[in-house]
Parts: sequence; C-alpha cells; structure tokens
Amino acid sequence: MKMVDLENKETVFLLKIIEDTIVDNEQIFNNENPLCWEIGSGKGEFIREMSLRYPQLNFIGFELKPKRVNFIIRNLDVEKNQNVKICQFFVDASVKKVFKAESIEKIFINHPDPWPKRRHHKNRLFNAAFLDSLAYVLKKGGEVKVATDHKEYADWIIKHFKQDNRWLALHEGYSTMVPGENHIVTYFETIKRKEGFEPIFMSFRKVL
Ligand SMILES: C[S@@+](CC[C@H](N)C(=O)[O-])C[C@H]1O[C@@H](n2cnc3c(N)ncnc32)[C@H](O)[C@@H]1O
Repeated sequence: MKMVDLENKETVFLLKIIEDTIVDNEQIFNNENPLCWEIGSGKGEFIREMSLRYPQLNFIGFELKPKRVNFIIRNLDVEKNQNVKICQFFVDASVKKVFKAESIEKIFINHPDPWPKRRHHKNRLFNAAFLDSLAYVLKKGGEVKVATDHKEYADWIIKHFKQDNRWLALHEGYSTMVPGENHIVTYFETIKRKEGFEPIFMSFRKVL
C-alpha cells in the first residue's frame, strides 16, 4: 500500500487521545450509536469483523503496539468500517479518565497477555483497580467479554470479578464452548488452538 493511502486511512481511523481529553462517542462518530470498546486489538480481525456485522454500533480499539495499530488501520476499509476508530494506548486502571462515566455498552478483551510467571502477575491487566475502571465506564447492564487460552489466568479473572459485587459472572464463570456460530476467531485463538490450547470464554454483566 502506498504511503499516501496509509496517511489517508490514519486520518479516517486513527484516534489520538490528547492528555486530559475525554472520548466523546457522539462527536467522534457523528452519531449516537452505542459504543463498544476493545482492549488489545492485536491484528484487528475482531474489531474489523464486528464493525461489519454491527454497523449500528460504534467500535473503538485500544492497542499498545504502534506496528499493530498501523497493521489494523491498513486493513480497514474506508467505506465499510466507518464505525471503527483505533487508538495506540497502554491500558491500565487509569483508563477511567479517558471515557465518560457509563458511556460504554460492551467491552471486549480477547486473549490478554497472561503473564504466567508469579513475579510478573503485577503486570496483569486484571486487578481490582482495573475492574473499578471498567465498572465506571460501562453502562449498567453492560457486559465485559473476555477470552483466554490460559486456565490459570481465567481463574484469576473470575476470582477478581466475583470479589466485586457490581458484577455478575454469566454462565457460571467460564465456558470452553465456542459462543455461537457468530463467534469471531482471532489471530491468537488460531495460534493457541494449533498449540492445543482451547479458549475459555467469560462474560461479566455490570449489575450495580
Ligand atoms: C495476546 S495478544 C491478543 C491480540 C488479539 N486480541 C487476538 O486475540 O488475536 C494481546 C494484545 O494486547 C496488546 N496489549 C497488551 N497489553 C496491553 C495494554 N496494557 N494496553 C493495550 N494493549 C495491550 C498487545 O500488544 C497485543 O496486541
């Protein structure tokens, strides 16, 4: 792809968050459609496909790595993915400052880095403060959907949600069933399945 095309796509799809500004869904998308947020978009196949399936929803993806952000943007279609924005961003508990309270309908986190070694657990995305931020930005009745191939991390995630009474763990915590034929297989799911790891799917509803 020519550089000029990428620049053009960046103008359309790249969301830059300047310090102390808050994401304004209506202003960004020029409509009042419900907002969905993906954390750790990776190569972008999930957000790309979701945007096609649900044109009546808006999607914002946060991805840490600039190269992946570029990759995602290159593969978005200016005509077909008008309801997508991608932002290069390191997500942690402080992310509550970036969104308005109760402004998000659904949050998707597919295959967050599991940081398996005990001494690295402090790097895990999921902790009490992070759940507090998710509860702040999510509408009541909204859902957080998480997939991981890492059983111990799944247990860790469920434990944290269950410790916070604002959340209801759906389907008793986790399911190894692919959730319906609408399921979108991400890059990491494919890799991990080839290695013999079944994904675990979790959904948590904000009830308070
Ligand atoms: C294991 S990959 C999964 C990618 C994709 N969701 C998938 O299922 O194929 C984790 C992704 O999350 C991104 N990531 C990790 N920590 C992050 C953070 N704190 N904030 C934003 N993105 C993060 C990584 O750069 C990587 O692209």
